Amino acid sequence: MNQLRMGIVGAGIWGETHAGIYNEHPLAKTVAICDKDKAKAEAMAAAFGIGEVYTDYREMAEKSSCDAIAIVTPDYLHADIAIACANAKKHLLIEKPLATTRDDVFNMMEAFRRNNVRVMVDLHNRWNPTINTAKQAIDAGELGAPYSGYGRLNDIKWVATDMLSWAAQSSILWFLGSHSLDTLRWLMGSEVERVYSVAREGVLKKLGVDVPDLYLTTLEFKNGCVAQMENGWITPNANTCINDIKFTVLGTDGMINIDCSSHNMIQQVTDKKVITPDIIVRNRIDGHVKGFAYESIRSFVDRMIDGKPFLVSTEDAANTSLALLAVLESAAKREPVTVRY
Ligand SMILES: NC(=O)c1ccc[n+]([C@@H]2O[C@H](COP(=O)([O-])OP(=O)(O)OC[C@H]3O[C@@H](n4cnc5c(N)ncnc54)[C@H](O)[C@@H]3O)[C@@H](O)[C@H]2O)c1
Repeated sequence: MNQLRMGIVGAGIWGETHAGIYNEHPLAKTVAICDKDKAKAEAMAAAFGIGEVYTDYREMAEKSSCDAIAIVTPDYLHADIAIACANAKKHLLIEKPLATTRDDVFNMMEAFRRNNVRVMVDLHNRWNPTINTAKQAIDAGELGAPYSGYGRLNDIKWVATDMLSWAAQSSILWFLGSHSLDTLRWLMGSEVERVYSVAREGVLKKLGVDVPDLYLTTLEFKNGCVAQMENGWITPNANTCINDIKFTVLGTDGMINIDCSSHNMIQQVTDKKVITPDIIVRNRIDGHVKGFAYESIRSFVDRMIDGKPFLVSTEDAANTSLALLAVLESAAKREPVTVRY
């Protein structure tokens, strides 16, 4: 394959991120856009010079000249679209999470296998330079054997109250917990065996968003490692970063601490607020998109062109969703739950 012709389903905030990277990659081109909201699809087509515009993803899957499709619809709306596109023999880059129900996970995996399509899920923390460096140190044996971990991935309230119109139909576990759980699996080098999670709600409900505020979760891994995972959607809006990203890995011979949010590489102060721009997540320099949020998408194109394996396998994404389902079950039952794979 010399050039990857991309289609995108979902012309929202993150769909625009996808179009940005495909359009600047020398070996990719966005040829089709689909959104159920015609005006949004047309606006993105005009902004990025996209020729084919659809409002029905089934029609796009069947008729489009694209080789691969990026699914960038709300968290709970990935499965039907992915299965329809796989049945049309389109390769897929699916936004995280892969799926939010057990049936969807298994139906999707079956469709991917049956149609022999290549699929990556955008669990982009693996391209985060801090986390990727930690993984390299662990793999080189610099920390001894991984023993315990800690992962915090929180957002300010604004994400749930204003940014996402569909926050109440998802949760911080699907939206950011998918990243943190995959990261901890990757760093610990093992699958999650058992989880115990405690959730709290009330702050977002008072603000009109009917969804839990936070989940504090203990993860026990099959290789004996243990980790604490914190995911919340109620960090104060005046926080210096939208995200609060912190990870620690403790090995038998060493430790790595990661703080992506208080990096102090740059601080911007106005009369209203101090901010620490998330420059390692997303940035634009001289017209080019930079940052790990773009690197994962760029890597999908690279691996489609050279045929090498993706850094995130479909099994990684499926097992992350299955472990998150156990976390939700544990929080609801208020007892530890063994993950069913
Ligand atoms: N990798 C990351 O860190 C990251 C960051 C932000 C969002 N995301 C993910 O991207 C996905 C989209 O998030 P967003 O913030 O862009 O949401 P959004 O609400 O801004 O956009 C979603 C779009 O999908 C469209 N849509 C919904 N159902 C559709 C259907 N059946 N057919 C066609 N279009 C449909 C909506 O009209 C909307 O324009 C989510 O899964 C989210 O978790 C990932």
